[in-house]
Amino acid sequence: MCGIVAYIGAGQAQPILLEGLKRLEYRGYDSAGVAILDSAGLRVARSVGRVAKLEEKLEDLGGFRGTVGLAHTRWATHGSVTETNAHPHRDDRAGISIVHNGIIENYAAVKKYLQERGHRFQTETDTEVLAMLIGELYEGDLESAVQAALREVTGAYAIVVMCEREPDVLVAARKGSPLMLGIGNGEYVVASDPSAIVAHTTQAIALDDYNVARISRDGFRTSTIDNVEVTPKVMQLELDLEQIELGDYPHYMIKEIFEQPAALRNTMRGRMDTNEGKVVLGGLDSFAKELVRARKIILTAQGTALHAAMIGEYLLEDLAKIPCECEYASEFRYRNPIIDEGTVVIAVSQSGETADTLAALHEAKDRGALALGVVNSVGSTIARETDAGVYLRVGPEIGVASTKAFTGQVAVLTLVSMFMARRRFMSPEASARLIGEMEQIPGKIEKVLELDDEINRVTEKYVERNNWLFLGRGYNYPTAMEGALKLKEISYIHAEGMPAAEMKHGPIALIDEGMPVVFIANQGNQYEKVINNIEEVRSRGGHVIAVATEGDERIRAVAQDVIEVPEVSDCLSPLVTVVPLQLMAYHAAVLRGHDVDKPRNLAKSVTVE
Ligand code: AGP
Ligand code: GLU
Repeated sequence: MCGIVAYIGAGQAQPILLEGLKRLEYRGYDSAGVAILDSAGLRVARSVGRVAKLEEKLEDLGGFRGTVGLAHTRWATHGSVTETNAHPHRDDRAGISIVHNGIIENYAAVKKYLQERGHRFQTETDTEVLAMLIGELYEGDLESAVQAALREVTGAYAIVVMCEREPDVLVAARKGSPLMLGIGNGEYVVASDPSAIVAHTTQAIALDDYNVARISRDGFRTSTIDNVEVTPKVMQLELDLEQIELGDYPHYMIKEIFEQPAALRNTMRGRMDTNEGKVVLGGLDSFAKELVRARKIILTAQGTALHAAMIGEYLLEDLAKIPCECEYASEFRYRNPIIDEGTVVIAVSQSGETADTLAALHEAKDRGALALGVVNSVGSTIARETDAGVYLRVGPEIGVASTKAFTGQVAVLTLVSMFMARRRFMSPEASARLIGEMEQIPGKIEKVLELDDEINRVTEKYVERNNWLFLGRGYNYPTAMEGALKLKEISYIHAEGMPAAEMKHGPIALIDEGMPVVFIANQGNQYEKVINNIEEVRSRGGHVIAVATEGDERIRAVAQDVIEVPEVSDCLSPLVTVVPLQLMAYHAAVLRGHDVDKPRNLAKSVTVE
């Protein structure tokens, strides 16, 4: 959902802004632009396509010199992908320039008002309207003009604003879209996330909703849009740049798939006391009683995180015996949800910035629910706005298609379920047994990763087919949905995931000769039923690709292709069975020649509705 970088200090802004944009490019990448104030005034360059195109353009222009500037990678919401619509945008009177992440929802009414006051617009974007409004309200103080304008607009924004009449000031503000201020020595970097800041400083503040920051080389001031002083909460950024380097891998996605064993070891480290047979989640301790007495748990998320949450629903009911439901956050937030006494809401999110999930969390909290977060990005908005939570600790996930965050979310939800189960009905022996098996999961994933070449060969057989089905039962029904999403979002092949039994109630009509149907058919408690479903597919000409348990000879008699995974209990099986599906999607995208890490139309974090 777009990347913002801004700089003010003693150094040249251009290299800092471009390096920051490259670090943020995974967030949104249909066009890019930069604006730098130098002694001759404001210089602006914009281009459609990747940051590399903008870099070429700047070279052709001889580069911009100046020590204060803004930069942006866009994920278009209002206005087509053109150079004209690329940010930064400007006003037509006061020398304002702005970069923006989000949506100004009342932009049409504001635009009409401004047009009636003689402003002439150049672009189709909502952002330009905000630039013009700030210009219209500018009376010599940029901070006041930004505050006044933000009191008039509705929607979501992270913005940084510059003014030619105040070349030593940047004004940043946020509502709904993330924005951080990196605090250097006489210099400041404002960015959408820590990856564009940590090269310069590890001291930062995350702006909260309705916060405004006025930044100059001598310091900064934080206030609300009503100009009420706000005390900034400085945090220490823990991100290590090495974690976000590609290394020898061709893409971040394959790197992050192969990182999963190490990532899950990090997720589990210090959180499982094998001697006591207990899960240790310090972040939940102060709410242990409320959790144990919970009468209902609602899990809410979007996309891949929702599939992990669906597995969480099975885990919580199976292990902790707590009634649980899983809801699309985008639906939950508008459904006037019933939140009664003893309801706990768990928001699951890799980025911690997904607009729908954040809004669902607010709905639940407003109705009195205890709000927990299962989040990867430390210090993200969802993490800050929950009552408690558990971080994934899988490290930054750059690939737009989520992989290690998915297994991290499932692993954390398993730990949360065990944390509650042990305080309710689970015996120490059962808990110790499950902990023992959890410890073996990274090794089992490593064994599956050794099959990468074989999985590539299987994928190649079917990569030309434009419709796939993914079927699973029980814990592996959400896994099947995740496999379908992975394939869709990076190979652009249409795929559907569903409960294996559901296929008979309509989708079986889709099956024609040679259609690839992926079954998660490990030897779990519904294995026989899965075999029946496989036979139903085979009898209609479908080609079955089975993810099966090592040594299962029977499956070889019914499936055209078999990918063997180590034996694993049902409740832990998605952590292992999802890996072949991730690899299939990756290889399909590569074989189809797509940009695996930046698939068309997508963004890593959807911070708008
Ligand atoms: C995952 O592969 C997708 N890119 C997308 O569905 C993602 O899972 C979803 O947007 C939720 O993001 P979050 O986990 O950061 O909240
Ligand atoms: N709504 C703005 C636009 O369409 C900003 C989009 C973004 O977040 O990149 O230009």
